Amino acid sequence: MGSFTAITPVCSFLHANDLSSRIKCLNISYQQKRRHEGLRRKSGVVAYYGLKKPPYNLDALEPYMSQKTLESHWGEHHKGYLDALNRHLSKSDILYGYTMDELVKVTYNYGNPLPEFNDAAQVWNHDFFWESMQPGGGESPTLGLLQQIEKDFGSFPNFKEKFIEAAMTLFGSGWVWLVLKKKEKQLAVVKTSNAVTPIVWDDIPILCLDVWEHAYYLDYKNDKAKYVNVFMDHLVSWHAATARLARAQAFVNLGEPKIPVA
Ligand SMILES: [Fe+2]
Repeated sequence: MGSFTAITPVCSFLHANDLSSRIKCLNISYQQKRRHEGLRRKSGVVAYYGLKKPPYNLDALEPYMSQKTLESHWGEHHKGYLDALNRHLSKSDILYGYTMDELVKVTYNYGNPLPEFNDAAQVWNHDFFWESMQPGGGESPTLGLLQQIEKDFGSFPNFKEKFIEAAMTLFGSGWVWLVLKKKEKQLAVVKTSNAVTPIVWDDIPILCLDVWEHAYYLDYKNDKAKYVNVFMDHLVSWHAATARLARAQAFVNLGEPKIPVA
């Protein structure tokens, strides 16, 4: 994802549509901001976020997710969110310099989203979604992920049933996630509406499924159940999920080092 060296810390609270508060809250010193603006003017370069490609060819998920769907979903919907985000950002450079993760969190603004939030979160969610699938995916997880799923859900079939049920009962458009909850150190299935993403609650995503209608209508019309089951049986990348869980567990464990007692 095209982003830049962060020059500001993530804000603890922002007041929507209140630019002075936003500047103050972002903790950008006047000198720092002037210097930054000067550099941008001098170079004449104004760059925003770039469109990240899925980690496979657009026809690689056939026949379960068609090239036509990828061309529309990634090439039009995902790109549309990115273009809209960059248009928002071009109006002011107050949010310049954030990584995409930081931008999503700071624009969520503790439940009082700024205008940039929906597009930023949809870009983040879609990037994560493409990387939650792989050609030849599906079947079942192995190694540490399987053990953790069995510990937290009782069994893999129980987890699968819960994930599918969450997708089928999601009202309207949104996302279904497998996340690692930091405090509980447990896996959980959560669903979010519209663009909301669990990183705003500090959950660590392991997998996600896009259950907006634009994700499946070209291949499955209104048959959401078929789409969700096909994702589980043929598309989900347990390889990616295993790597994400290993990183997440290492990160969570770093918060509480086990220091041996002498
Ligand atoms: Fe989507």
